Amino acid sequence: MADQKKTSANVFYRLNGDDRKLPLTSSSSDLCSIGMHSSYSASSSRDGSLGPDPGRTEGTDDLRNSIVHKWTHDQSIVCLVCSPKNGLLFCGTQDSYILILDLTTFQKLSMIKAHSGSVLCMHLAECETILFTGGSDSLVKIWNINVIHKRRSQRQVELLPTHIIYSLLDIGDIFSVAWIESTKTVLFGSQNASISFVHLGKISNDNADPSSMPSNRYDKFFDSTGRISDNSKQSLPLPGGDKDDCQSLPASRLIEVPSCNIIRYAHNGYVYAMDMISNIDAKSSLLGGTIPEEFDDVILSGGGDGIIKLWGFKDNKMTLLRSLDNSEPVLCIVTKQGDNYCTLYCGLANGTVNAWDLSTFQLVRSFEVGRGDIGCLGLCDGLLFIGTEEGVCKKPSLSDGTVVWLPSSDSCLAMSTFRMNDVSYLVSASMDNSVTLWNVNVLDRSCVKNRSDTNSVSINRMIEVLRKMVSFETVSKEPSKFLDQSRKCASFLRLLCKNLGAVKSVLLPVPDANPVVLATFQANKPNVTGKTARILWYGHYDVIEADHTDSWDTNPFEVTAVNGYLYGRGVSDNKGPLLAALYAVADLFRSNKLACDAVFLIEGEEEAGSYGFQKIVTKNKDMIGDIDWVLLSNSYWLDDNVPCLNYGLRGVVAADVEVWSDKPDRHSGVDGGVSREPTIDLINLLSKLNDDTGRVRLPNFYSTIKELADDELRLYEQITKKVKGAEISELMTKWRLPSLTVHRISVSGPGNSTVIPHAATASISIRIVPNQETSEVKKVLVDYISECFQDLRTENHMKIGMTHEAEPWLADTKNVAYQILYKNLQEAWGVEPIFIREGGSIPSIRFLEKTFNCEAAHIPTGQASDNAHLSNERLRITNLYKTKEVLEKTFNRLPCKN
Ligand code: BES
Ligand code: MN
Repeated sequence: MADQKKTSANVFYRLNGDDRKLPLTSSSSDLCSIGMHSSYSASSSRDGSLGPDPGRTEGTDDLRNSIVHKWTHDQSIVCLVCSPKNGLLFCGTQDSYILILDLTTFQKLSMIKAHSGSVLCMHLAECETILFTGGSDSLVKIWNINVIHKRRSQRQVELLPTHIIYSLLDIGDIFSVAWIESTKTVLFGSQNASISFVHLGKISNDNADPSSMPSNRYDKFFDSTGRISDNSKQSLPLPGGDKDDCQSLPASRLIEVPSCNIIRYAHNGYVYAMDMISNIDAKSSLLGGTIPEEFDDVILSGGGDGIIKLWGFKDNKMTLLRSLDNSEPVLCIVTKQGDNYCTLYCGLANGTVNAWDLSTFQLVRSFEVGRGDIGCLGLCDGLLFIGTEEGVCKKPSLSDGTVVWLPSSDSCLAMSTFRMNDVSYLVSASMDNSVTLWNVNVLDRSCVKNRSDTNSVSINRMIEVLRKMVSFETVSKEPSKFLDQSRKCASFLRLLCKNLGAVKSVLLPVPDANPVVLATFQANKPNVTGKTARILWYGHYDVIEADHTDSWDTNPFEVTAVNGYLYGRGVSDNKGPLLAALYAVADLFRSNKLACDAVFLIEGEEEAGSYGFQKIVTKNKDMIGDIDWVLLSNSYWLDDNVPCLNYGLRGVVAADVEVWSDKPDRHSGVDGGVSREPTIDLINLLSKLNDDTGRVRLPNFYSTIKELADDELRLYEQITKKVKGAEISELMTKWRLPSLTVHRISVSGPGNSTVIPHAATASISIRIVPNQETSEVKKVLVDYISECFQDLRTENHMKIGMTHEAEPWLADTKNVAYQILYKNLQEAWGVEPIFIREGGSIPSIRFLEKTFNCEAAHIPTGQASDNAHLSNERLRITNLYKTKEVLEKTFNRLPCKN
């Protein structure tokens, strides 16, 4: 840290230009009042991960917090199904594709051309390996879902078409599709009011003929619109016969619906909806004994005629059993089956939902939700979700009229609910081409007053915790404004570490600054070498300011999850990477596999030059104990594709230079020309810092710089081979040469164009490299500016205040830590990583190396496009997971230092 000492009358060092005095001096006793809710304890919870999550503060969850992820697309999503077993989401698009989304990494996995028109409806077999789609091309297709696990945790999903079903009738759009597993029968409802069904085992496809397919026939309305690409009888890959819970389907083939399997006027309108209820275990209870026992399966269909029909299915025949009249077109249906009841909800075209008791076939409730169509319905955890032209709402209680609207303004086109890892989710697709994944349990709590205390495991707890972390506005550059937020965040982290299993987790108060979190996890598995290594993870919970809110597309302090990325201030620098390390250690610890001691040292002042850090670490060195390696993740990849290891950072010396006059601010018309102006003096000074080519003009500035070694040059060559657009000379300039930047010139007074400011300040910084010494650079800078100022022979005054500094850092890429990291990184990503340096600075690395007499290794997490320090900072979720994966192995394999 810069020393606070006076030198001469008009040149002195001072601490940070900010007012470092905090309204509250920190002491440990302050912490309890800012600490977390008292009900949070260190006990462990059902899921065995951590106790009541400090991330869940009572009453603060609002509906927006329930959005787990959002995907945007360039076409409408018309239908969707979820596959929790595969962790996948299948979306049918208006422009004929199936879009596959990953529910673990939230990446878009693939797009598969499915039909020659819109994919209008989908159904997933219970085994979740067979997908059915119906399209506006009048075809039903059956797909085998094939998840290929490529190298570590990378996967690819293939949809192999096994059957293509067409009808000789002009059935028009296919709006609904259902599947009877027990008899291997596909059913579908169409625009021409028909229901067709095909028994996949029995059909002989001898008459099936590609030229008879709808696309090859004369079309009454549009004429023939060309040939589609599916050519028919040729054999396609076999469906997965290895899946034991699903009998394999015969090889792909073209099937023509036998004319006896078409119920031509199933409804007196489009057949919008179909569903299936098993009548097997429910003969007397579920359907109230009203369905003849001979029917094992009951098909429900809903049509534009407003009628719900119940059909018994047996011996490849459908028998109409009941009709229920809703008076308005039925657009969607969903059934709720209890132990001895079955309720059918119908979404109608007039904004009404009807609930039918299927034991008595009585209409038990009818409630109006809004104007326009009820296009889709979902049931989950006793909640009914209703998709309307005005968005999605939920009905927490069926007995009263209240509905709660979810914050999505657009018309809802499709929805689906599912449970995965004990959490209930809702997925909805809206008119703006987006798909939103909601955590129903959070949604539930946000409107139920007496909610239960059980906390849920979400798709990923780490991301939920990151959301909470980001919600703390931990801007360190303005300590007085964000003091409370920083302290809350530090307390949250401390408690989180405790809950995750740290033996010791404390806050180290830093005078006039944000506290440091120190948490130690103890090995619970012997190390192969017999000696337990102690690894220090360094990170920071403070962030750079984000007050240019208008240049952010979203609220910077509220994580927005879109298309596989998390957006928010600090997600990449440094809250995300920090949690990846913490959860890596926590997961090892939880499964009794932690083979090292892991010490987390997390500061809250990095972005302000690590104010007070060195002092507090030195003071608590004994408590921290001996350290074998320092690890950190506080920088980014060189591009968006190649994983990197970082082995060098520039240092920095930053200062404010102020020139001021004894005169007040004056009017330039009245007083202009009378005296030397501070702003002009300052600009004169600044002009002397660089030469015309941008080289720094401080005396002897370049003389100590380390020369380029041969093996270093080879690293640069490696980089340019792998990273598109990377140029050796530019990289070298950024990484191994110093630079000087003028960040800002500010002036006193109102800032209008008639005022002579009485004072002007420039914020400058110099990035330095090995072997330039910070102390030497500071001295040279001060001496040089003072000299130049004297040469100006002005009546004004000048002072230089050092704001922060950092030593440059260079690691040995051949040490065992880098070897281990390299191997683990390569394994995790399936490609060879590259070694890079950075032009940025981290004040604490070199200090920690010296203090603990050990080496540091630096693994970047995010991509070059992360926008750290800028607006729309983001982090790809996959990168977060991969860093965690890499660190799990690295922590456990690092040896003790020699
Ligand atoms: N994560 C950065 C360091 C960094 C920046 C690494 C760019 C790689 C590329 C860190 O959080 C940071 O912002 N450091 C400051 C330190 C300064 C305030 C002493 C920096 O480099 O400006
Ligand atoms: Mn930063």
